[in-house]
Amino acid sequence: MSQSETTFPRWLPLLGGLLGSTACGLLLYAFSVFIKPLMKEFGWTVPEVALAFAIICLIFGLVTFPAGRFSDKIGPRNVVLFGGILMAFGFFMVSTIKPPTPEELAAGASSKKQLYQLYLYFSIIAGFGGGCVYLPPIATAPKWWPDRRALATGFTVVGLGLGSFIMAPLATGMINYFGSALPVFKYVGIALAVLVVGSAICLKNPPAGYKPAGWNPPAPPAGAKETRDYTYEEAKSTPQFWLLWLAYFCGSFAGLMCIGLIAKHGIDAMSLAYRAKEGLDAAATIPEEAAKGIAMAAAGAPSALAITNALVRVMVGPIVDKYGTKAIFVVLFALQAIAFLALYPMGGSAAMLALIAGIVGWNYGAMFTLFPATLLSYFGPSAQGSNYGLLFTAWGVAGFCGPYLGGKLQAMSGSFLVPFVVSSVVLAVAVVILLMLKAPEKKHA
Ligand code: 2OP
Repeated sequence: MSQSETTFPRWLPLLGGLLGSTACGLLLYAFSVFIKPLMKEFGWTVPEVALAFAIICLIFGLVTFPAGRFSDKIGPRNVVLFGGILMAFGFFMVSTIKPPTPEELAAGASSKKQLYQLYLYFSIIAGFGGGCVYLPPIATAPKWWPDRRALATGFTVVGLGLGSFIMAPLATGMINYFGSALPVFKYVGIALAVLVVGSAICLKNPPAGYKPAGWNPPAPPAGAKETRDYTYEEAKSTPQFWLLWLAYFCGSFAGLMCIGLIAKHGIDAMSLAYRAKEGLDAAATIPEEAAKGIAMAAAGAPSALAITNALVRVMVGPIVDKYGTKAIFVVLFALQAIAFLALYPMGGSAAMLALIAGIVGWNYGAMFTLFPATLLSYFGPSAQGSNYGLLFTAWGVAGFCGPYLGGKLQAMSGSFLVPFVVSSVVLAVAVVILLMLKAPEKKHA
């Protein structure tokens, strides 16, 4: 079938991916902004609120697996619509949680019931929906772009970076305006519903055997047998699949472990440098103006990270389409291992910290295009939803334990050096795995 036999414009699934992934970015990547206001309103502790994020990562990451399977079987539109409505509903419902009155808070009222409501609405319901929105576009768009598969994949994940970029300042502004975090969940919940309905409308699988007009697959080498895609069962029984899972886990675990610590490390290291410059001893309080300046300077690092995390997802696509993924993987993962080591000594300089954070964001974001693109090149597009859904569970598990362990290691050792070094070692393991990887044999018809 050629382009002329379907009237569906093939840029629409790219738009569907952009909208769906932006919704997921709004859902996931601005959570740190909510931590302090929620603690203030409900009297929760940092670990209690942080657990909400760990649970959402786990649920989101695990649900991608059935979401991908269903997307392969019944098409992406209904899966995204179903998940999107759940995601918007869960997010919206957080706004209905009733905080204790200031008097109750002062009297030490327990907000445990409300905490479980947060876990239910945000982490479980919205997280479940988010997984259903995230995966189907990644499986669908490359089927419309066999000539630019990695680039198409990049479009379907770029919104995760964009969403965080939009949401962090938006949520901060709204919290300041309303004096509470709860209305953010209401209005952004409504916005999520609009985004996901738009995304679902833009998504459908191409007709079987679809080729864009004027494009023909590269001719197989002379004498080669006709090949076919792997089925899901065949793909998951190869060692390559599980080595990729392990590498994905290592890359996500190390990345998520460090990302949440970078700004805090910057504040610590810049405060230390300030005290040394001003001749203050270690316990002396830094004047308010100087402390604000340090916090702002340190905030440059997460901003740099958010920008590169978004940009790389699309920019790496054309390079992958031309040269494949292996060399890029090895170079970026090795660079990431070095960048994690550089974070510690560079913490005292705002410019250097932002530079290294930008490199970390670049290498981290690239994974979300590189892993699905590698699966496509190993196993073909037919079962990409099921294959990538299963592979992505590695991110879910990493998201559950990475940030938690990062915080624990820092608290136990009293230094940011330990989590940064551990992350670097974990990345080095991933480099070895990726060096060992070889594409599986083609399946013959
Ligand atoms: C991503 O950033 C959800 O972490 C995943 O694409």
